[in-house]
Amino acid sequence: FSLKKYNTFGVEAKAKYFAEVNSVEELKETLQFSYSPILVLGGGSNVLFTKDFDGLVIKLNLKGISEKILDENHVLVTAKAGENWHEFVQFAISKNYGGLENLSLIPGNVGTCPIQNIGAYGTEIKDHFISCKALNTETLKVETIDLEQCKFGYRDSIFKTSAKGKYIILEVTFKLTTKNHHIKTEYGAISTELKNLGIENPTIQDVAKAVINIRQSKLPNPAEIGNAGSFFKNPTITLEQFENLKQKFPEIQGYANGDFVKVPAGWLIENAGWKGKQIVNVASHKLQALVIINATGNATGKEIYDFSTMIIDAVKEKYGIELEREVNII
Ligand code: EPU
Repeated sequence: FSLKKYNTFGVEAKAKYFAEVNSVEELKETLQFSYSPILVLGGGSNVLFTKDFDGLVIKLNLKGISEKILDENHVLVTAKAGENWHEFVQFAISKNYGGLENLSLIPGNVGTCPIQNIGAYGTEIKDHFISCKALNTETLKVETIDLEQCKFGYRDSIFKTSAKGKYIILEVTFKLTTKNHHIKTEYGAISTELKNLGIENPTIQDVAKAVINIRQSKLPNPAEIGNAGSFFKNPTITLEQFENLKQKFPEIQGYANGDFVKVPAGWLIENAGWKGKQIVNVASHKLQALVIINATGNATGKEIYDFSTMIIDAVKEKYGIELEREVNII
């Protein structure tokens, strides 16, 4: 079964078995056959297939959004795993529910957003997450997993670490504001864009608009050019390491956090000479070096992976920093 349509890189790979699942009951039935390994696909926007998958790929199509007023300022909104993330955010904004507007236009589905605690422009889902329901693949029981249990970190959660492969997320519940919204415009690019739009007291709708404009101006649309967003995480180094690098490379950027500094991987890649560079079918995006693209549409997963290794080597050699892939490599 070809997975080309089911990954935003648009690379060819075959799954031995493939099942589209429309309900929790169907999911349980499918799991009873005990195929292994199993891979659950959401929007396919954070995976790179480097070879065929010798197991069962499940595409989760659970749909639906429900709301429950919590108090005079808040609402609980629950979305099923198969809801498209951006459409869900647009739904919240259209109802004037605040919290997720900075996360507009992130590719993928609701069910996969907790896995890497998606984040952008000063917001992460953990800031608004209450809990998720997930099917335990060993017991086939549905469990509720709350904020604390998820152990969210920067692009990280238990679903990537201690509980990897154990759960299939079925739905996610967020706590959003119905009034007195907390507008987050600290991220430089947002305030600049709002200024460009001539907006002084932005609403959540304005913030969403600004985020959409920024993303559209520099991130390639996966429907047109295959990609999976940021390919690497922004690395964290010690303050001491950063000070040493700063002596050699005074232009280097970094965001201090206690004794550590987060360095933008895009800056490192660009300044190691790899921004916009293309090797046969694969390139680093010319407007955002952190994004690797299937430039010709004919790239294989292996070619993309090898290209990413070359970037890792180049950055390591110049800055002594080892980039870590953010995309799930299969
Ligand atoms: N930069 C460069 N050259 C580049 C790209 C970036 O010098 O080619 C510099 C920029 O000048 C800027 C800094 O790096 O000062 C940060 O760039 P940007 O604001 O574009 O954000 P980022 O750190 O590259 C992260 C997330 C994105 C998210 C943006 C906005 C990660 C791995 N990526 O990118 O998330 O949209 O911040 O908040 O944390 C994703 O995960 O797929 C993703 C797109």
